[in-house]
Amino acid sequence: MLRSLSVSARFWDRAAKRYAKTPVANKALYQKKLEVTQRYLKSDMYALEFGCGTGSTALVHAPFVKQYEAIDVSPKMIDICKQKLMDQPKANLNFSCLPFESLLSDEGSYDAIIAMSILHLIDVPEEVICKVSKLLKPGGVFVSSTACLEETIPWFKFIGPLGYAMRLLPKIQVLSKKKLELMLLNAGFEIDYQLETHSKKAAHFMVAIKV
Ligand SMILES: C[S@@+](CC[C@H](N)C(=O)[O-])C[C@H]1O[C@@H](n2cnc3c(N)ncnc32)[C@H](O)[C@@H]1O
Repeated sequence: MLRSLSVSARFWDRAAKRYAKTPVANKALYQKKLEVTQRYLKSDMYALEFGCGTGSTALVHAPFVKQYEAIDVSPKMIDICKQKLMDQPKANLNFSCLPFESLLSDEGSYDAIIAMSILHLIDVPEEVICKVSKLLKPGGVFVSSTACLEETIPWFKFIGPLGYAMRLLPKIQVLSKKKLELMLLNAGFEIDYQLETHSKKAAHFMVAIKV
């Protein structure tokens, strides 16, 4: 796992500047995801976002909760987040450079956990989803948006490992909606919302509640 985290951090460090400049591919869909997420946020909540990238989503959601922690494995991504935070200060928002797997918060620390475009980049997504479940209070909300490559580019399972072996790509899981749903159910979640889109390329957006 340590090797894949460092490959991932280096990959996203290299991508950070370009990622920050790239406009959101589907603005209407992104807005819809923000709006649905905010339906679940409340002003007394403690929220965590992991794989926060350049921090755009965190900056939008932070005013809707009491405290918002956002973490990312890439130091360069976090530098961009901190720069943005200086330009748009939010007293309840903190950015830290940390892989989710190393986060040491107590069980039941958060009311909401947000994971946008990240679960398919995790070494063992089942373990990470179980950790999310532990970190949430009962009734807590897990919002995720995940590329399901098994449904879009199934042949990626042949070239992905090659790209990883050559250190050109981070480890990328070939997930499906079914696999994701099963992981969530096994970790003690109920699925409360799923965004149906017409685009085959769209990531699968779900809101799950810890039972
Ligand atoms: C595809 S980007 C998504 C960024 C942002 N969430 C978004 O939707 O634009 C994936 C991000 O996850 C971060 N990441 C990858 N593995 C991680 C891990 N194990 N823990 C925390 N962050 C991680 C990467 O550094 C990168 O910034």
